[in-house]
Amino acid sequence: MNVNANPPLSVVILAAGQGKRMRSDLPKVLQPLAGKPLLQRVIDTARELSPAAIHVVYGHGGEQVQAAMRHESLGWALQAEQKGTGHAMAQAMPAVPDDHLLLVLYGDVPLVRADTLRELVQLAHNGPLALLTVMLDDPTGYGRILRDVAGNVRAIVEHKDATDEQRAVREGNTGVMAMRAGDLRRYLGALRNDNAQGEYYLTDVIAMAVADGLAVAPLVASSESEVLGVNDRLQLAFLEGVYRRQCAEAAMRAGATLADPARFDQRGVLTVGRDVFIDVNVVFEGNVVLGDRVRIGPHCVLRDVTIEADTQVFSHCNFDKATVGPRCQIGPFARLRPGATLGPDVHVGNYVEVKNSTLDAGAKANHLTYLGDASVGAGVNVGAGTITCNYDGVNKHRTVIEAGAFIGSGSMLVAPVTVGAGATIGAGTTLTKDAPADQLTLARAKQMTLPGWKRPVKTK
Ligand code: UD1
Ligand code: CA
Repeated sequence: MNVNANPPLSVVILAAGQGKRMRSDLPKVLQPLAGKPLLQRVIDTARELSPAAIHVVYGHGGEQVQAAMRHESLGWALQAEQKGTGHAMAQAMPAVPDDHLLLVLYGDVPLVRADTLRELVQLAHNGPLALLTVMLDDPTGYGRILRDVAGNVRAIVEHKDATDEQRAVREGNTGVMAMRAGDLRRYLGALRNDNAQGEYYLTDVIAMAVADGLAVAPLVASSESEVLGVNDRLQLAFLEGVYRRQCAEAAMRAGATLADPARFDQRGVLTVGRDVFIDVNVVFEGNVVLGDRVRIGPHCVLRDVTIEADTQVFSHCNFDKATVGPRCQIGPFARLRPGATLGPDVHVGNYVEVKNSTLDAGAKANHLTYLGDASVGAGVNVGAGTITCNYDGVNKHRTVIEAGAFIGSGSMLVAPVTVGAGATIGAGTTLTKDAPADQLTLARAKQMTLPGWKRPVKTK
């Protein structure tokens, strides 16, 4: 027999609880922690163990939960009535073969780490029932781990069923366990609900295993927050704080200085180079990549953006699905919308919005401008208050500004239109036809003065 051969792994995530205390129309397991539903976090962590299958036991809000997870390949088991964790497990068992290792997770315990789960599964490989426990300052509400004098786990007693002496035990049950599916199937069939809550407790299988001569291998979690569950919005906020701190620490270890690690929000994946600086209250969403020495000013929101080395982003910028080259200067108060692509050494200043447009090397749009569906060539200077009029109410049209052109302030570029290389557009022009290269083009009403004109006077 090959002792190293790992049996296939099946994961069962219990998620049928109602989550009344959230006071929400959204099922509890869909509540987001740092932008991602609790259940999605648990699934993502479970995937790191490459399981053969993941089954979700659902009940309340089933359709909503299934719809939200439709991109995942999952087994679904309905628990129509919540009769306890043991009953919930039983609903998933028909889909789990006897020879699989079974890992039990909770859909509302979002920060459990893959390394911990790997260790637990490893313990269960050679037969024992592996149980994740945790030392708690206040174990109220938790099932207590009962050990004998030799330290062997004998049983779990639920808080509501426990004696005062048992309640003094600080080692709590996390609910996470791993064992052979065949063993669990036998025990589940023998569960009874003659307890304080009238429920079928999954935790009762521990004493059954002990009676059966099956070893129980406990693993004590290294931190409490890793195994904490979410029952209400206070606990959700607390765990998001824990997660935020973990992300801040990872960013600092990777080479970023954070002005204040407590005022840093990451709701996705952040990749940083060396000597990056991030000021306070910056929110990172989706996939964000910051090159070496990038500096991000305070109060920015960056979502799905790549920013290359040595670029400076000043305060109050909002970027969404944009790409920024090296050595750029952006903001304060700049908005880059989807499809904004900035080359090297580009300047985008205050109150400038860029959407679906490219700005080539050294182009500048420093103040109060809208560039939409535009190609802006290298070295172009776009004056204050310039607008690409890209939308006729039905269609979007492109504006092309070739290299080295100079757009005077307050110009309206009515697309589709092209400004040739090196052209100059006079301030205040409404450009409706292409402007030739290297020449001055302007369209402007002639200035006049009415001699003898008097401003009207108010009569009392
Ligand atoms: C459970 C454990 C307890 C442990 C605690 C850790 C049991 C009997 N008790 O208690 O030992 O210390 O978790 O937080 O297992 N669920 C269902 N269907 C049900 C009941 C629960 O799917 O009928 C799911 C819930 O959605 C949740 C998980 O199981 O994800 C735990 O349920 P919960 O009611 O929070 O269990 P506790 O009574 O807190
Ligand atoms: Ca609970």
